[in-house]
Amino acid sequence: VKVKGIMDPPDKVSIIAHRGASGYAPENTMPSFELALEMKSDYIELDIHLTKDHIPVVIHDETVNRTTNGKGYVRNMTLAQIRRLDAGSWFNEAYPMFAREKYAATPIPTLDEVFDTFGKNISYILEIKDSTNETNIESLLNEYIMKYELKNVVSIHSFSRASLRKFHTINPEIPLYQLVWNDYSQVRVSAAFLKDVKSYAVGISPNFQGITSAYVAQLKRAGLKVMPYTVNYQLNMNKAYLWGVDGVYTNFPDRFLEVIETN
Ligand code: G3P
Ligand code: CA
Repeated sequence: VKVKGIMDPPDKVSIIAHRGASGYAPENTMPSFELALEMKSDYIELDIHLTKDHIPVVIHDETVNRTTNGKGYVRNMTLAQIRRLDAGSWFNEAYPMFAREKYAATPIPTLDEVFDTFGKNISYILEIKDSTNETNIESLLNEYIMKYELKNVVSIHSFSRASLRKFHTINPEIPLYQLVWNDYSQVRVSAAFLKDVKSYAVGISPNFQGITSAYVAQLKRAGLKVMPYTVNYQLNMNKAYLWGVDGVYTNFPDRFLEVIETN
């Protein structure tokens, strides 16, 4: 029996592979992005930091400590130093049930490598992790999007409102999503906040645990898209789907595909 949610699901609900299909392969690596594509994800989400020589590379943390065999801050290392690191063996050790030989020694990808490999075969959500006046990461990312002619398939998100505002002034055509973190389930949010977000972004990406169906409905009535992160269990994916979200970030894109197909 089909249960009707507060709002009907939109025509297209996006599967967003969070750091790639990172439940099955090392996060933010080429194998995790390849798997995301194989699993029919609409988007890959990737976290961007700049190296010492100002090259955008794909890694979540500001240091390489957790996900590679090296140590140190990404911003203090050159691209050459970064590329020597092994970004996959930690995964094989942590998740032996999903370990694969090819993950060992897979490097931290550059944004060039990702755009060059996947082109328009998938859409992208880039997360700006460290925005500073010195590096001007917003202009740099826009240059990459233009260089690869990917403006129709790239979105940007960030927790930094200042960074998103800045990006919007550089290129108002790129869809932006405001990341938010709610400590507890939000029933509603201030109209002033939504109005402000709407002035530069097309949507809000909240943590799933911090939202309710009423919150989703309020954002949608305000004309904003809603894409919660990071939803890994089908029970929650199903809830989000019935609440009418526009997309779901997940480490397991195949699970969300199944939920969409069975609804
Ligand atoms: O992209 C949504 C989510 O990725 C934000 O948090 O820590 O996983 O980058 P984080
Ligand atoms: Ca992220």
